[in-house]
Amino acid sequence: MFPELRMRRLHSVLFAILLLGGGREGAQAEASRDAWLRYARLEGAQRTKYESLPANLVVLGDSAVLRSAQGEMIRGVKAMTGKTLGAGKNFQEKAIILGTLAEIHTAAPELVPPHPIGPDGFWLLTTQVRGFDCLIVTSPTERGVLYGVFAFLSKMARGENVSPLNELQQPYAATRWVDQWDNLNGTIERGYAGPSIFFEKGSVRPDLTRAGEYARLLASIGVTGCTVNNVNADPRIIDDSFLPQLARIADAFRPWGVQLGVSVDLSSPKVLGNLDSFDPMEPPVIAWWRTKVDQIYRQIPDFGGFVVKADSEGRAGPSSYGRTPADAANVIARALKPHGGVLFYRAFVYDHHLDWRNLKNDRARAAYDIFHPLDGKFDDNVIVQIKYGPIDFQAREPVSPLFGGLEKTNEGIELQITQEYTGQQRHLVFLPTMWKEILDFDLRVNGERTPVKQLVAGKVFGRSAGAFVGVANVGMNENWLGHPLALANLYGFGRLAWDPNLSAETIAAEWTRLTFADDPVVVKTITGMLLASWHTYENYTGPLGSQTLTDILGSHYGPGIESSERSGWGQWHRADHEGIGMDRTVATGTGYAGQYPPAIRDLYESVQSTPDELLLFFHHVPYTYRLHSGKTVIQHIYDSHYEGAEEAADFVRQWKSLSHRVPDALYTDVLARLEYQAGHAIVWRDAICNWFLRTSGIPDAKGRVGNHPDRIEAEAMQLTGYTATDVTPWENASGGKGIECAKASCDASFHFDRAAGAYEMDVQYFDQNNGESKFRVFVRNRQVDEWIASDHLPATKPGGDSSTRRRIPSLILRPGDEIRIEGIPDGEEHAPLDYVELHAASE
Ligand code: GCU
Repeated sequence: MFPELRMRRLHSVLFAILLLGGGREGAQAEASRDAWLRYARLEGAQRTKYESLPANLVVLGDSAVLRSAQGEMIRGVKAMTGKTLGAGKNFQEKAIILGTLAEIHTAAPELVPPHPIGPDGFWLLTTQVRGFDCLIVTSPTERGVLYGVFAFLSKMARGENVSPLNELQQPYAATRWVDQWDNLNGTIERGYAGPSIFFEKGSVRPDLTRAGEYARLLASIGVTGCTVNNVNADPRIIDDSFLPQLARIADAFRPWGVQLGVSVDLSSPKVLGNLDSFDPMEPPVIAWWRTKVDQIYRQIPDFGGFVVKADSEGRAGPSSYGRTPADAANVIARALKPHGGVLFYRAFVYDHHLDWRNLKNDRARAAYDIFHPLDGKFDDNVIVQIKYGPIDFQAREPVSPLFGGLEKTNEGIELQITQEYTGQQRHLVFLPTMWKEILDFDLRVNGERTPVKQLVAGKVFGRSAGAFVGVANVGMNENWLGHPLALANLYGFGRLAWDPNLSAETIAAEWTRLTFADDPVVVKTITGMLLASWHTYENYTGPLGSQTLTDILGSHYGPGIESSERSGWGQWHRADHEGIGMDRTVATGTGYAGQYPPAIRDLYESVQSTPDELLLFFHHVPYTYRLHSGKTVIQHIYDSHYEGAEEAADFVRQWKSLSHRVPDALYTDVLARLEYQAGHAIVWRDAICNWFLRTSGIPDAKGRVGNHPDRIEAEAMQLTGYTATDVTPWENASGGKGIECAKASCDASFHFDRAAGAYEMDVQYFDQNNGESKFRVFVRNRQVDEWIASDHLPATKPGGDSSTRRRIPSLILRPGDEIRIEGIPDGEEHAPLDYVELHAASE
């Protein structure tokens, strides 16, 4: 064995130990659970800055929320400065004072905020009260006081000056919620970070510690409510016997000012109440909802409200009785109204049995077609919850025209924090960059400046409510979302809901400082990676607004270009050998562009004025069509995919530059994920490029697509026991084929025929979740590497979801050397291999 190989194997062993959790115990694990509330110890000048902070803490009033505010202040100051705050006397000494405006006013009437503060807003002020230096944290509400404490501690953690301080903050939108898509059996729909923190085996978990910790995180970013169960709701969630369990979750949330919400199934009156129908206009149904809601409020007095998904993807809905969404929403809203509850009615309503042959059919039209005519018909405690785009959380979509189509109805925006279509937390994708573009998009309603953020906050038409809702899907994983860097998305959601005028850059830098350290190199590197990541992902997945091009019928993860065509789901991109794109114009297409206000309609109606990144969403064009960039569509597809894969590889290089600057276990965890991503970006690149090459017949001007001189296909190797198999769809394996082993063990070998030297070898294999095959690599009969395919990728067969690679960083090779890969199958996984690629090690 060569010395460098021995070293490398030692690294693999250490690495495996870390991945198995050895390195993640203790302090580091705790730190990731605290996420951005780590309150790392401040050193030197950073700490001195806060020496003048009063040593005593006064809390005016007593409640669970104020106790959280008090506890948090003590905890944060102690962790960052080592100082334990003592209990102070009211305005008789230097102190930090927490209390509502009413309490502060009684004690010190001279303290009047510079302008009125609304609910949840807060005022941070350093001032002299009765001759003593004080720091005041106040708000009209107790929850606002808690938010003020978090804001103050965040300033300290980021090294900001806090004296003097006179800062008033007001949330932009009144309602800021997260939705969880948790099932009662403990799984999470589109969740990528372990089981539910709320449910297991059909009940609420006995131990709700994580639910309380989650509420703390939510409070720290100003989130006011959390719906805990799947929008595809199990009716049992509001069964009589379940309510005491729900009350326990509300108890865990309450100290953090987070209201509990649940998703309900519209057929509940029939399923749970044994009524003959769930027709929302039937008096027994109306009475059933009223009784049920009263019962909920008796057990959970601060209950927040319901989310409804109806007439969508097979869910029961008012259309069964010829009723409208407004009819259904209002009946439930009226039951909630006396208690102050809210009904979120989702606009994600569409027919998933559309005839794809009809070029006028268009799923993108559905939300506007259904809800716009109902404008003004919804009660004022209903919020129509609208996904940011007209399809379904794709990597790029235009903003939903419905945001501009409701003037007399409360509306909210639904963003997706969980990365369903954006790499499922295996890929780094910082979503606030995308969300900013959506929120800042000016829809020109009635010819005026009307950015989406203003519309969804209810500001444009003076609505009584507006909302930001993020589908979060955190799980039991220590770091909540799986990928340590994905937490920036949860943080970013809360920050944008609080203040959508913040830049993505500010949010990324804030999060990095809070999570890692104030080391400028760390902040610059991670912020840069975060900010680049959405475009990178878009580059190697669906180009020019053609949607993600993932497998929409299965995992929504790897490439699956044709999965969206020729089916009723309506996510068509209509690519054939001549061109690609959906014609959504009024003149010749589906008319979708006409749902936008005139200025935006005209922008998208014309192929010339449509921005390149949305071209294929609105127009069907030949592959030779020239973009504003000057490139043809087909060359853009090739170039962007090569660029995207290169950018993903660069994330690995950038991260490596931080090896001694971030904690070891975290470094290793993120590195493994970024290396995986870089490999999967190549799978994506090749699938998309090869498919478009074959379909269009137009070669890549740079000669890259379909030419892989460094690649040795597994099916072209000398096979002992292994047999070649077709991979479906063909573009998800190199050459359309892989090899599989139906015996106890098989070999694939080839002879090295290039110049002697050090080479890096990538073994591209398929890691399914129904077996843990073992692989061994030999050079001249000496073993140089071995590993077990034990990742939990979302696939049971070889293909774009399971394709992954093992990188062997340095092999000394001579012409004629035999390289042999031994595969030992396990379960249903037949040690499948795709290809090997060799690059000179210096490359
Ligand atoms: C997507 C997602 C579903 C989810 C649906 C929704 O289609 O794949 O799992 O239920 O959105 O938002 O209702």
